[in-house]
Amino acid sequence: MIDRIHHVGIVVHSADDALGFFRDTLGLPVTEDRVVEEQGVRGVLLACGENEIELLEPTRDDTGVARFLQSRGQTLHHICFNTDDIDAELARLKAMNVQLIDETPRDGLAGRIAFIHPKAMHGVLVELATPPAGSHVSHDKGFDHLAVSVADYIAAQESWKHIVGLEVVNEIHPEGRGMVIGQMPCGQAIIELLAATTPDSPLAQRLLEQGERASSMVAIEVADLDAEVAKYRAKGLTMPDPAVGVLPDSRTSTISAEQAFGLAIQLIEFKR
Ligand code: CO
Repeated sequence: MIDRIHHVGIVVHSADDALGFFRDTLGLPVTEDRVVEEQGVRGVLLACGENEIELLEPTRDDTGVARFLQSRGQTLHHICFNTDDIDAELARLKAMNVQLIDETPRDGLAGRIAFIHPKAMHGVLVELATPPAGSHVSHDKGFDHLAVSVADYIAAQESWKHIVGLEVVNEIHPEGRGMVIGQMPCGQAIIELLAATTPDSPLAQRLLEQGERASSMVAIEVADLDAEVAKYRAKGLTMPDPAVGVLPDSRTSTISAEQAFGLAIQLIEFKR
């Protein structure tokens, strides 16, 4: 069973440079750092509560990850889900004829891993992982939410439900944005399906230009947004003043992807 987001993977030019931000500025602890020869990457995992952020630096240029970096630049590469039994998950997916990249699990940074083909998941590359005994575990909240833009909202809900086991339990229609947000809880985080409801909305335009994909963004809940913004500004980052967020009773400010090695970090405070 899939019970939480294990990590989001981002492709970077230099893991050392990216560590200067994720480890030193954000303060996330490194839980794993090694070269996976057969994949041609140096991978680094950093813990963020119950979730992790995976940095992938290509170590040679004849791999899919290296080509991805060349064509797309530093950005989100995949979303990985934790399962206690990857063999059972793969058997279940094969029985449903889901298109897979890996028919059998292989060794990866997060344990025994396998990738589902992005065609099966509306443009999102999804990894499944069963970590080895004794690996990092936290029961703290990590990500608040991730977002995935989809062209066909109904079909996407079906895929996420049948392949990953996540269901939309709440819908938000932010005023004036021509979009619907379908919230799918996963552990303590939420994955949002974003779908356009009018053809002239900014989201509809983005879908036309970029196609369906996961946003290169993670939102992290903070207790005191003003204090966090002040802290990161003092560290030299540029952050907009906190503003009313799209989600009800929220305020947000974001560390731009340009400052965060391709992964925008939205800080979100809820009035609870
Ligand atoms: Co990964």
